[in-house]
Amino acid sequence: MRVQVAIVGGGPSGLLLGQLLHNAGIKTVVLERKTREYVLTRIRAGVLERGLVDMLEEAGAADRLHAESFRHTGIMLSSNNTYFEVTFDKYVDQPMTIYGQTELTRDLYDARERAGGATLFNVDKLTLNDLNTRSPSIDCKVSGEPLHIDCDYIAGCDGFHGVCRQYIPVEKRKEYLKDYPFGWLGILSETAPVHHELIYSNSDRGFALCSMRNQNLSRYYVQCDINDSVDNWTDNAFWNELKRRLPERFASTIETGTSIEKSIAPLRSFVCEPMQWGNLYLCGDAAHIVPPTGAKGLNTAASDVRYLYAALTQRYTDNDECKLQNYSQTALERVWKVERFSWWMTSMLHRFPDQSEFDIKIQQAEIAFLQQSEAAQASLAINYVGLPY
Ligand code: APR
Ligand code: PHB
Repeated sequence: MRVQVAIVGGGPSGLLLGQLLHNAGIKTVVLERKTREYVLTRIRAGVLERGLVDMLEEAGAADRLHAESFRHTGIMLSSNNTYFEVTFDKYVDQPMTIYGQTELTRDLYDARERAGGATLFNVDKLTLNDLNTRSPSIDCKVSGEPLHIDCDYIAGCDGFHGVCRQYIPVEKRKEYLKDYPFGWLGILSETAPVHHELIYSNSDRGFALCSMRNQNLSRYYVQCDINDSVDNWTDNAFWNELKRRLPERFASTIETGTSIEKSIAPLRSFVCEPMQWGNLYLCGDAAHIVPPTGAKGLNTAASDVRYLYAALTQRYTDNDECKLQNYSQTALERVWKVERFSWWMTSMLHRFPDQSEFDIKIQQAEIAFLQQSEAAQASLAINYVGLPY
């Protein structure tokens, strides 16, 4: 098999990049370790920056999003029993779009299928070859059958646990990692959202988040011990804990119900530098991870895709590799700003096991300053809705 760009990973990064390149007439193949059905079982945040929505439109995968999504123009922040709204459109003309990542991934798979893009599932034993030559290649097994793929470039979109990042020599690769000493216990319930905007809550008992997928599907989280287990949490125990972390106005009105999904996720900040090696280019979670507090995982994968797509189309259109050579530097400049914002939101809103009383007072002062300062709220809004590409 020969393609121009071989894409490892059929998650949001790989699919969005593949669709944009395919529409630009650049021959691609997407190699996915799992099945499409398995990929679509993943429950992830669905808070989309406008830049991502614009790219989904460009990829021809935004029709259902426009029919089913809804706009958010602010968030609610609460600290114990006080709460206030940060209204984005006072500071930035850029709403956020609420649309489940699972649906976005489904739409990208459907768009790729309609366009006739090649996607191979059950890909195993994948190895990358000759990355520092003009003819890199991939060897793998597809449902057990060997396959060799010759290509010009390889996009490593295989997520945090993928293999591509490991092909950057360890002596050339710098990895930055911060693991947080807690997790998020999340549930999905077929109940009406407690509020029309997201509620980020800092309480003495820990962080809580009220989110949603649509008017009849809510997504809630409570901070939990890093070693906790979903088996320790009945639905009632979850709802009671969530209510204890929300202001009375919301605790008394929230609609509870049976969880249709319940899981615990760890929180980490991670960046791999560089994000390229020879003709391998890392994109999305393969290169960086943020704690979910700022809803930036998918959106930062999207900005990588924007930069890599622009670089590859410049290469194939103008035979100019300038943007490709600068891809890692360009992407990392925005990645680190998003890492900072996600770290800041996490530090401000969670209870840390080793926190002193002084630390808690500092958190409370941070939130009080946000409540009182338009400049502080403008800074949050600018980061939350999405930094420019
Ligand atoms: N070969 C082929 N595919 C692989 C391999 C491999 N060796 N290793 C992993 N994959 C696949 C995974 O099965 C997954 O479908 O790569 C895909 C990576 O997708 P994500 O982990 O979703 O990462 P990304 O596409 O960058 O999306 C980033 O989506 O999953 C969320 O939290 C994530 O919000 C972030 C955003
Ligand atoms: C979600 O809806 O799952 C969600 C929303 C916002 C976040 C994290 C997760 O910051």
